[in-house]
Amino acid sequence: TDLDTFIAGLPKAELHLHIEGSLEPEQMFALARRNRVDIPFGSVEQVRAAYSFSNLQDFLDIYYQGADVLRSQEDFRDLALAYFDRAAADNVRHAEIFFDPQTHTDRGIPFGIVAEGLLDGMAEAEARHGLTSKLILCFLRHLDEEAAFETLRQAEPWLDRIAGVGLDSSELGHPPEKFARVFARAGEMGLKRVAHAGEEGPPDYVVQALDLLAIDRLDHGNRSLEDPALVRRLAESGITLTVCPLSNLKLCVVGDLADHPIPRMLELGLAATINSDDPAYFGGYVNDNYRALAAQGRLSTVDIATLARNSFTGSFLDDADVAHHL
Ligand code: ADE
Ligand code: ZN
Repeated sequence: TDLDTFIAGLPKAELHLHIEGSLEPEQMFALARRNRVDIPFGSVEQVRAAYSFSNLQDFLDIYYQGADVLRSQEDFRDLALAYFDRAAADNVRHAEIFFDPQTHTDRGIPFGIVAEGLLDGMAEAEARHGLTSKLILCFLRHLDEEAAFETLRQAEPWLDRIAGVGLDSSELGHPPEKFARVFARAGEMGLKRVAHAGEEGPPDYVVQALDLLAIDRLDHGNRSLEDPALVRRLAESGITLTVCPLSNLKLCVVGDLADHPIPRMLELGLAATINSDDPAYFGGYVNDNYRALAAQGRLSTVDIATLARNSFTGSFLDDADVAHHL
């Protein structure tokens, strides 16, 4: 449709992308072969058939298992490059990508192998496509505070190449307050702060992320809409929300894209953006997410342009670089 052509042509930034969630089944098999790792699937079709989730934890169990094929610096480079090639094809000009170091260090892969591999892929993407990127180190919230502090210590030699810290994994039962001290330390170190909140967790987790983690950007934030005072606060502060329509559908955060909260968020004056989260698991990259939502007929071309513009203004690029993209 005309809207799809408009979406494809729009320059955009992607602000909510877990690089481990961009591991396509074909690449999982290729890496399993290269590294002689056993995987519990016989074919790419079997893998895709297993990607049916009823909640976040269902997905996380299979996502952490998939990451086991990632072993060498070259694996992390290839993973990142495969994502950047697809993102460039979607006219993504800048990406701020999450990685989960603990998923790898807990399997004996050194932090530096992961970080250097991803940085290699980022440099190659800029050379190949002119696509710029930043790295965000996520703490796994189902693990304890001390493990997060240990990860931040391991990251020290790379902190000049890491833009910020984030918080992901199982939300319910792991409120932001559990990580207040490690986020305070990250702030003292000059790192930006973001957190997943209000995906499955209640609006109070979003309030905690603002008050106790001092977040610069909110990942998901869907359930904020249940609290009118919180909505006013988010609108007045202008904080960016990184929302993920196909993820929300696949993880049953929304029952139907026809009821997706993004149009409402824009009406309420929230700085929403569209992102793919874990595209290999949720059935689409960033343009697929724009198209799926636009197909519901609740977004104007002005809304779509606003969402793309928000992705640059909500990025951690400096003002001159943002201006250059708008
Ligand atoms: N890790 C990867 N994707 C995630 C999501 N949508 N929520 C929480 N943790 C995640
Ligand atoms: Zn996410």
